[in-house]
Amino acid sequence: MPEVNTEKIFASFLLSVEQVTSIDEFNDLEKEYLGKNSLISEERKKLSSMSEISRKKYGKVLQELSTQISERLNQERLSFQSKFFKEKELKDNKDITINWYKDLGSREHVLTSVMNEVVDIFSAIGYTVATGPEAETSWHNFDALNTPDWHPARYESDTLYLDENLEQLLRTQTSTVQVRHMQNNKPPVYIVAPGRVYRSDQLDATHSPVFHQIEGLAVDENLTFSDLKGTLEYFVQEFFGKEIKTKFIPHFFPFTEPSAEVLVSWKDGEWLEILGCGMVDPNVFQHVGYDKNSQGFAFGVGVERLAMIRYKIDHIKNFYENDLRFLRQF
Ligand code: DAH
Repeated sequence: MPEVNTEKIFASFLLSVEQVTSIDEFNDLEKEYLGKNSLISEERKKLSSMSEISRKKYGKVLQELSTQISERLNQERLSFQSKFFKEKELKDNKDITINWYKDLGSREHVLTSVMNEVVDIFSAIGYTVATGPEAETSWHNFDALNTPDWHPARYESDTLYLDENLEQLLRTQTSTVQVRHMQNNKPPVYIVAPGRVYRSDQLDATHSPVFHQIEGLAVDENLTFSDLKGTLEYFVQEFFGKEIKTKFIPHFFPFTEPSAEVLVSWKDGEWLEILGCGMVDPNVFQHVGYDKNSQGFAFGVGVERLAMIRYKIDHIKNFYENDLRFLRQF
């Protein structure tokens, strides 16, 4: 039987495949070893003139050889292609240090994350979020909140008015949301209202004409000053940690009676004011259409203040300058 030496053929194929340098050469090799004029095809032509036994045997030998070659060829072609494209990619993107998918942002501003954190602390004890407009009426910002006509906060030197009649203004406090919420909802009320407020203040280390507050309001049967104190102590400890000390000192706010300021003592022992609070004044209940004998407490927290104390930030302007070196720290 005129058998070819399959091992030799396969060895010579391997030798050729190793030297391939382009996709075209793979096609040429395929033609050479498996095509119409290949040795294997020539040998196949001889099968018909062989005896049945020899035909079967030799046919199988040729088939095995052609499978072996074609499998190896495909395998080599695939790995050549992937290597080829990888190299091409590297060559085309000359600066391979550019990471196109680098995460450049989507980071919360530190004030947003502090506000969200405070909201979370209160939602954990059943408070929901309420909002209100930043452009307000003087009635919502002052009258409804029991602020007398002569109160200095009403002066144009303190408040940014939007009209000559001093009826529209940029809200100076988120306490306006208390008014709006009570007008539209019956007790029980447990809300926090985060938002931006405006004052005619010069920028200094701790004051800015625009800043953020979170208002809180609870109205329910039998709420007392102890509930207010317990709630705010819980908040302060959740936010600053269990080791923090709090102090309530008497203060005056037109919309609460009695009123207090809460101070916290941070590591160095200095007392810093973080919020105002008190029992809602009956006049406020009356203005919003509630029963004058309703019981409730309210508080207003300065967001910048919280962040400055916690992160030891020495100037309020850092929050607004958008210096990424500052913002990326949080
Ligand atoms: N609105 C006050 C301010 O801007 C803060 C405040 C004090 C809010 C006492 C309250 C409160 O709800 O009861 O200074």
